[in-house]
Amino acid sequence: MKTLLVTGCAGFIGSNYCRYVLQKDADARVIGLDALTYAGNLSTMHDLKQNTRFCFYPGKIQDDTVVSGIIQAEKVDYIVNFAAESHNDRSLLNPAEFIQTDVAGVFTLLDATRKFGLRRMLHVSTDEVYGSTIDGRFTEQTPLEPNTPYSASKAGGDLQCRAHHIAYNTPVVVTRCGNNFGPWQYPEKLLPFFITRLIDNRRVPLYGDGSQVRDWVFVEDHCSGIHHVLEHGEPGQVYNIGADGEQTNIAVTRMLLELLGKPESLIKHIPDPRGNAHDRRYSIDASRLKSLGWQPEHEFSASLECTVKWYSSRQNWWREILAKPDYQAFIKRFYGKYLGEDL
Ligand code: NAD
Ligand code: DAU
Repeated sequence: MKTLLVTGCAGFIGSNYCRYVLQKDADARVIGLDALTYAGNLSTMHDLKQNTRFCFYPGKIQDDTVVSGIIQAEKVDYIVNFAAESHNDRSLLNPAEFIQTDVAGVFTLLDATRKFGLRRMLHVSTDEVYGSTIDGRFTEQTPLEPNTPYSASKAGGDLQCRAHHIAYNTPVVVTRCGNNFGPWQYPEKLLPFFITRLIDNRRVPLYGDGSQVRDWVFVEDHCSGIHHVLEHGEPGQVYNIGADGEQTNIAVTRMLLELLGKPESLIKHIPDPRGNAHDRRYSIDASRLKSLGWQPEHEFSASLECTVKWYSSRQNWWREILAKPDYQAFIKRFYGKYLGEDL
């Protein structure tokens, strides 16, 4: 039996990955570690906790005592790191926490991987480390040009991985994926934020003219790509994960209106709160990973429809989050001046 330490297991992609591994590999035990920040919820792990091959520890990845203690107690073989501060808008308001988790936390996990001779660490990164591209595609050789405190902190984590492999031969691999969507995504990111507001007939704040392009990946494809890299990737390498899912924000918003049967008048264009830091376009070339035998399996519009259905039928989960004071405080602080009485 192999034992995986999955950090950030109470968040969106981490929880989906735990489900994916437990279902796909009967020989895997999953040890979850999560600091339960605003983005990590016990309710997101409710089904996981029923599984005897899953167990959960609360704690921070930058806490060496916690990380070392779990690795020794649970005889961990692999680390898969999802734990992060992950929202660009929050990084504009409060960047310090991003450095602690996305840089110092990655260092602690790398150090533990080396110290305890683990078989492999996979660090989950993002296409945003490449910055923005007008007409090109990001390959793994594209220079790192992050534009927000969030993406700069992720680039810092990636560079720690690179240096640890070169300096100590630490067996680490890095993945960089585009915008994920699917079940269990915290309702501050574009899709779940807009879906939950539209269900309640509230206006949705579209930044600027909505012509920015994101390269969307259904979360299950991201999980399968990560697992493929964990099993087949070469230590020290970076692998992009993408599904040719480029869409403008306005096009995606109109698809949501259509799926939910809502009028165009629910779109509210607001001055772009990200300003110069708003990346115009992401576009991922995933051919390196595809050459290892991986393919995405989910088409964008069908997966979007499934996602809308999921949020329509799991209202208990997200309404509990919407009712929390820290969620309401963030929405008010970030959108208050734009949405006014629509808040
Ligand atoms: P999320 O915000 O939904 O979840 C992050 C989880 O990490 C939360 O459960 C939180 O409690 C936990 N966490 C935060 N700080 C921690 C710490 N110091 N120690 C332990 N746990 C901590 O994020 P997500 O969208 O699931 O993203 C997961 C990873 O994937 C991140 O590294 C992110 O950069 C990367 N990524 C996300 C996307 C996307 O579209 N969401 C795309 C590409 C890459
Ligand atoms: O590309 C991968 C990245 O995708 C991940 O690394 C990040 O963790 C993840 O949050 C996501 O970053 P984005 O900033 O692209 O995602 P977000 O959902 O915040 O915004 C998507 C686009 O929608 C972006 O162009 C800004 C726009 N937007 C977003 C929100 C929340 C709006 O127009 N209105 C909104 O209210």
